[in-house]
Amino acid sequence: MVQLARLCSYLLKLLIFSSLVNNFEWVPSYVAGVQNVYKPIRIHPYYSNLNYELNDSEADILKNSVDNIILYLKQLLLVFPNKSPLLLGRDACKSSWTNGRNKGKCSQIKKDYSGEICDDNFLIPDKHLEAFYTWTHEPLPDKTWYTDGVGISNADYILYIQAMSTNPCLTNVHRTNVNRVTAYASYCKLGEMDRPVAGYVNFCPSEFRESKNDQKRLRLTVLHEIFHALGFSKDLFLRYRDCSMTSESNENCAVWGYPILRQHGANYLLLTPTVVKAMQDHFTCNKTEFGAPLMTINGVLQSHWDSNILHGSIMSHTLENPEHIFVDPVTLAAMQDTGWYKVNFSYTDSYPYAKGSGCDYVTGTTEHSSQSCSFPHVRSTCDSWYSTKIINCTISAENNPSVICDSGTSDRTEITRCLQEVTSMSSYGKCYTVQCLGQNQVWVKVSENNWLLCPEKGVIELKYADVKIHCPRNVHLFCYKRGPQLYLEDLVSLQTTTTTPSSRVVTHDLKNMYSFTSGIGRADDIFGNNSRSGFHHVYGFDFTLMCFTIISWNINL
Ligand SMILES: *[C@@H]1O[C@H](CO)[C@@H](O)[C@H](O)[C@H]1NC(C)=O
Ligand SMILES: *[C@@H]1O[C@H](CO)[C@@H](O)[C@H](O)[C@H]1NC(C)=O
Ligand SMILES: *[C@@H]1O[C@H](CO)[C@@H](O)[C@H](O)[C@H]1NC(C)=O
Ligand SMILES: *[C@@H]1O[C@H](CO)[C@@H](O)[C@H](O)[C@H]1NC(C)=O
Ligand SMILES: *[C@@H]1O[C@H](CO)[C@@H](O)[C@H](O)[C@H]1NC(C)=O
Repeated sequence: MVQLARLCSYLLKLLIFSSLVNNFEWVPSYVAGVQNVYKPIRIHPYYSNLNYELNDSEADILKNSVDNIILYLKQLLLVFPNKSPLLLGRDACKSSWTNGRNKGKCSQIKKDYSGEICDDNFLIPDKHLEAFYTWTHEPLPDKTWYTDGVGISNADYILYIQAMSTNPCLTNVHRTNVNRVTAYASYCKLGEMDRPVAGYVNFCPSEFRESKNDQKRLRLTVLHEIFHALGFSKDLFLRYRDCSMTSESNENCAVWGYPILRQHGANYLLLTPTVVKAMQDHFTCNKTEFGAPLMTINGVLQSHWDSNILHGSIMSHTLENPEHIFVDPVTLAAMQDTGWYKVNFSYTDSYPYAKGSGCDYVTGTTEHSSQSCSFPHVRSTCDSWYSTKIINCTISAENNPSVICDSGTSDRTEITRCLQEVTSMSSYGKCYTVQCLGQNQVWVKVSENNWLLCPEKGVIELKYADVKIHCPRNVHLFCYKRGPQLYLEDLVSLQTTTTTPSSRVVTHDLKNMYSFTSGIGRADDIFGNNSRSGFHHVYGFDFTLMCFTIISWNINL
């Protein structure tokens, strides 16, 4: 009886499958006049165990941010829609038939196969997974190990979201503010054309709690992580596809026909055409092969831009002041060159850093030093901080010092920039903490509690210390702030008219999922150095110490 039922269900499947095939044969898209088959991407969030460590209001804040960014991405990215429902494949087969009528079909399941696991041992619910059979020589499967789950309807991508104090989060106790892990993400499953169809994000609860009231920061973190999960990953660069010849569907896209990653000094350059064009346009350089620099750590490629060059990009490895993070044209070009997405470039932020700085800014081999301090004030030797207490800031009281001097509340609007420092002996770039008031006042922190106003194009002279600090030449650019962005403001109101999928909870034995051992066992993991290296993409907080980060990782171009 059981056998019979199985046979029936199998025949039914065959029937459904062949009718699908017929549909494809009989109604090809061009005959049916289907245009613009790319559709806005439908990312389905699946929140898992948020309440294990977050309380209700915290979980709501997290969900709200993720939901908003999903709406943003829906407008930013088009994708070749997934057949509904979305079902994820099982990687369960140990060996397949190499010949015979069941050639290519699985003959043996992996020993101890118990399901599909994302990062952090996150177990994908069976209801999201495909059936799995093994075959003998008979035409019908010998054994049904799993039947199809219900899948996820109307989705092109499923994003698993957790907030757990996993080992990478626990390493934060060993880290400085600069390298703290806020969240990390990975793709989990690839679908047709290798497009990622499932991904995983974990938010470290204590870091999340610290930043949960800073909505902009939170959303930018979410966006950064989802970009990783959608394909901005060192493990996926070489799977990117050239879809430039296919406007209507992605059926004929092949992987890029030339090496799109090339070593350049200590870095790698990403050399896909839209990226190169975006780089050329931004830096005003018409060199061919003017690729975008990806950072390395100890020679190992990472999933972030070199933030020394693409400073403030959403895909650099640290999140500075949210006002200075940009959804830059180079990152969006990379998303387009995945071949999996069509990007609506009208959402590109106006990205000011190093705009028009020329070819040498990127490919030059000169040491990042005082010479490059003039613009955009981010390249620096950053050799030391100027910390001698010199002047009481109340001297400049008439210029609204209350905002500036209240160091207790204003640290998040501080930014670190390289300014040229001249003494009677030398001249070199040094990191200073600065603040912009409006578009035209730059205040420089010259000691712990003391800030001095930069005269425009002028010099701050600290006579007693034999130091002259050269102020930025173009204060407007120096103090540039992004305008209001779609995903930061508009979507709040959009969301009130959009129903977001309700969250569901999977229950696992958490004690078995996580071993809360202390120590920094996953530290290498975080920086992408182990066998599953591709899985971790870390977004740390970096309030003011960008330059320190650069130095401590010893990045040379
Ligand atoms: C949730 O935790 C936060 C601390 O992060 C606290 O301020 C808040 O009152 C808590 N909310 C509830 C509903 O327990
Ligand atoms: C690049 O620009 C320079 C100066 O504008 C010009 O002389 C040169 O011919 C251009 N090269 C290419 C390949 O377009
Ligand atoms: C891109 O987005 C803008 C703003 O929402 C919209 O007006 C435009 O039609 C979009 N372009 C495409 C190709 O979808
Ligand atoms: C700055 O000056 C004010 C007023 O003279 C004084 O009260 C304050 O202690 C000074 N602060 C520092 C850090 O010297
Ligand atoms: C990973 O880290 C170990 C120890 O830090 C090092 O010996 C090894 O070379 C690294 N692997 C790569 C690929 O960089």
